[in-house]
Amino acid sequence: MIILVTGANGQLGKSIKSLVEPQKKSYSFVFVTRDQLDLSSPSNIQNYFDTHKFDLIINCAAYTAVDKAENYQEEADMINHIAVKKIAEIAKSNNIKLIHISTDFVFDGLKHKPYSESDACSPLNIYGKTKLEGENAILSIMKFNATIIRTSWLYSEYGNNFVSTIIKLAQKNNNLNIVSDQMGTPTYAKDLGQAILNIIKNEKFNEPNRVTEIYHYSNEGECSWYDFAKEVINISGIKCTISSINSEDYPTAARRSRNTIMSKEKISNEFGLKIVFWKDSLKCCMKNLSTLSLLNKE
Ligand SMILES: NC(=O)c1ccc[n+]([C@@H]2O[C@H](COP(=O)([O-])OP(=O)(O)OC[C@H]3O[C@@H](n4cnc5c(N)ncnc54)[C@H](OP(=O)(O)O)[C@@H]3O)[C@@H](O)[C@H]2O)c1
Repeated sequence: MIILVTGANGQLGKSIKSLVEPQKKSYSFVFVTRDQLDLSSPSNIQNYFDTHKFDLIINCAAYTAVDKAENYQEEADMINHIAVKKIAEIAKSNNIKLIHISTDFVFDGLKHKPYSESDACSPLNIYGKTKLEGENAILSIMKFNATIIRTSWLYSEYGNNFVSTIIKLAQKNNNLNIVSDQMGTPTYAKDLGQAILNIIKNEKFNEPNRVTEIYHYSNEGECSWYDFAKEVINISGIKCTISSINSEDYPTAARRSRNTIMSKEKISNEFGLKIVFWKDSLKCCMKNLSTLSLLNKE
């Protein structure tokens, strides 16, 4: 099986790459960065697939700058919707399976229970809207052979994310104000990457003409950004206090959903996945950060 992974320089792309090295023999992975496959032009995407053949595409590339997207709607739409539509058309006509990553921001956050895959979507911001349009393009083009995985609050050892930002800020400040009225679940990108690798080995995934499905994946448990930051500080041992504030006290260009906790029942039942509690995965990531010397404990 020849597998293309887009967004190879992103958090999830790098996490998958770090996990597949030892598995090279059974699958052949091709990781592409923006330089190798720029998704900002459908004709460019077509040209690429005219000369490269794959059995599966894992689309980890996305326009992920949530606040910036409010002012760059066209750019966000191009990567999160138009490019996804083009990839789905190519996948369908060449019988290529597709795994596409989407977001909890397709929900407005007004539900008081965990979101299931069948709940109505109503994004509050441009990023969520463009990601939802990408999902809908796949659903209308690929009745079969596509798998959409919505995830939330992704962090990793790579790039800028909430964990690395909190560590850097805490090293320079005695106190940080963090919002406590937005609830969700962090996702360690390596756990999601491993879940994807387990799924592609699963018999059900490999059934011919498998009906296209949406799944939710995050770590287990729930917390606010405030709880998340406190746990980062707790594990790091950095001396910094975390104070709780409301969303109104931290205005952002893009509106944020108040609750994006998602039920993982469907994905764990269908593929037999064991999902780790978020604090345990956070410890694991921060241990790796510490090894990489990004977390400089004094
Ligand atoms: N991060 C989160 O908290 C979060 C939450 C929910 C869902 N998700 C979803 O999870 C997936 C993975 O997210 P992530 O955190 O790994 O994202 P990320 O670290 O921002 O990586 C996204 C990658 O997409 C690439 N990309 C952007 N524009 C491109 C273009 N025109 N052509 C080709 N590649 C392009 C970027 O390339 P460059 O490196 O060159 O910029 C980057 O490597 C995405 O679908 C995202 O929407 C993320």
